[in-house]
Amino acid sequence: MMLDPNLAIVSPPPPSPWPRFSEPLKLAVLASGHGSNLEAIATAITQGDLHAHIQVVIYNNPKAKVAERAERLGLPKVLLNHRHYPSREALDQAIIQTVQAHGANWVIMAGWMRCVTQVLIDAFPGQVLNIHPSLLPSFPGIHATEQALAAGVKLSGCTVHHVELKVDSGPIIIQAVVPVLPGDTADSLQARIQTQEHRIYPAAIALAASSKATESQGT
Ligand code: GAR
Repeated sequence: MMLDPNLAIVSPPPPSPWPRFSEPLKLAVLASGHGSNLEAIATAITQGDLHAHIQVVIYNNPKAKVAERAERLGLPKVLLNHRHYPSREALDQAIIQTVQAHGANWVIMAGWMRCVTQVLIDAFPGQVLNIHPSLLPSFPGIHATEQALAAGVKLSGCTVHHVELKVDSGPIIIQAVVPVLPGDTADSLQARIQTQEHRIYPAAIALAASSKATESQGT
């Protein structure tokens, strides 16, 4: 049997209809790389699916492609070069100040390749999210796609989760599953996974925000 390369299972399914919050969610997107997830979130907002606003894009690497992408999308961007901070906590303090100065209160790690500390997690309780290109808890850390291929798994995917201190861990919000096909390379598998990342990240933000809204109504 030939596997359909476009096969994907998303669980839970994206919200339908997408929730409207009384105020748009105020997002700070943290990115270290190309920024394709940033653009997917921005597109979901422009299309009217995700009721949110990207207040600021924070990046840590002066050469990161995400800077050009933020520029093209007309989004404010701030470089916080991790090399200029004496500790992870000091970088996280600068992130907190930047997020707050831009009026954001959701921290959306979209290819943010730095370990975060409890300082950042505690500043925005339940509002720090991360995406990772594997079916967590399998293959956390760097080179997740290569790890999956080396392990010989037949299904892989991506996960959006609340952030806890341990790298790529925390309560899972949504996952998408894709097949690993014979002859896949890290690039081909990563491309298949990224198509799903772009679907699930906006949905995960909406799901997390509606749970948070429901929780606060109950208290
Ligand atoms: C994404 O695949 C994301 O899951 C991964 O970095 C890529 C960023 O792509 N994140 C991690 O590996 C976190 N451990 P993008 O810059 O095109 O959005």
